[in-house]
Amino acid sequence: MQHEVRGVVARRKGAPVSMEKVVVPDPAPGEVLVHPRACGVCHTDLHYREGAIGDSFPYLLGHEAAGTVEAVGDGVTTVKPGDDVILAWRAPCGACRSCLRGRPWYCFDSRNATQRMRLGDGTELSAAIGVGGFCELTLVAAGQCVPMDARISHDVAGLIGCGVMAGYGAAVNTGGVSRGDTVAVFGCGGVGDAAIAASVLAGAGVVIGVDIDGRKLEWAREFGATHTVDAGRDDPVETIRALTGGVGVDVAIEAVGRPETFMQAFYSRDHAGTVVLVGVPDPSMRLDIPMLELFGRGGAIRPSWYGDALPTRDFPVLVDLHLRGRLPLERFVSDHIGIADVEAAFERMRRGEVLRSVVMLA
Ligand code: APR
Ligand code: ZN
Ligand code: ZN
Repeated sequence: MQHEVRGVVARRKGAPVSMEKVVVPDPAPGEVLVHPRACGVCHTDLHYREGAIGDSFPYLLGHEAAGTVEAVGDGVTTVKPGDDVILAWRAPCGACRSCLRGRPWYCFDSRNATQRMRLGDGTELSAAIGVGGFCELTLVAAGQCVPMDARISHDVAGLIGCGVMAGYGAAVNTGGVSRGDTVAVFGCGGVGDAAIAASVLAGAGVVIGVDIDGRKLEWAREFGATHTVDAGRDDPVETIRALTGGVGVDVAIEAVGRPETFMQAFYSRDHAGTVVLVGVPDPSMRLDIPMLELFGRGGAIRPSWYGDALPTRDFPVLVDLHLRGRLPLERFVSDHIGIADVEAAFERMRRGEVLRSVVMLA
């Protein structure tokens, strides 16, 4: 059987998104049909619409979602109809060279649904990062469904599926932030603020938020930043040194995705410190680092894909922290919107007015 529902589609590079009829097949073996209940509007959705991720238009957008399982295909034992789940865009295959070496968070063959969703005229859709959450029904691989405690509401749970996990994991999984560490986070959007909150939870002593927007710095303080730097006014490298007894931070997290902020993070570190790059660069960007500085400073430069998350391990931890009042996920939600409002949400995102707009699906 097929289901005809509504979804938000980017038809052409740069064109405004539109609401389209989407045809979703019943789940094949290993697949799950999910009714997304809430899905955050993430920067990556906008990157898709702008053609910065690929050219496989039309895209069915949305990938930061939580919802309810409607139906499961043959052989699916991990979830059943009625279960509440957070959708992950990493579902380790268990068989690639990375999985077999015990590093499933680097899985090179992450699973997605094998059947395609389509437009009404039969055109195949590409689901954003294999999720397609701005849609009344979506089809995913069973491994993408991480069961969630039903006490957490869908709007905040969905955020764990992308931005919050990326920022939290950048600090804790990739950066290894621990008790007593000093940390600087460049870019205090949803990802950066999650890195700040995670650093505080991990016991960091000094947590410095850097941004060029005063509102973002205020929110960063609400998430626990002990200090903030307005990089439009003050030199972040000098200010971070001054705040850390002249030495720099143990872990500098870049959550913007630009060469200038990467270099600031690079030079804000103490000797043998770690730079984590979680901001996503575009293909035109280049770095020019004096090789002696790279060598002489020691330490590590570590890209963080999806916060090096293993969703089945990490999502329940974040849900638990939230339910115990230690991770205020509701503060990431700037507004709740309808499925028809995604284009307007992109505009508000561009103007820096929101951390996250969350699409609610009845
Ligand atoms: N210095 C400091 N902060 C900056 C600078 C700069 N030069 N330029 C932009 N920023 C800030 C913005 O003001 C904003 O607060 O970076 C922040 C980026 O946040 P968002 O736009 O909300 O993006 P977010 O969802 O947090 O994602 C951050 O991670 O996943 C990737 O693609 C995503 O590259 C993006 C990054
Ligand atoms: Zn995302
Ligand atoms: Zn694998």
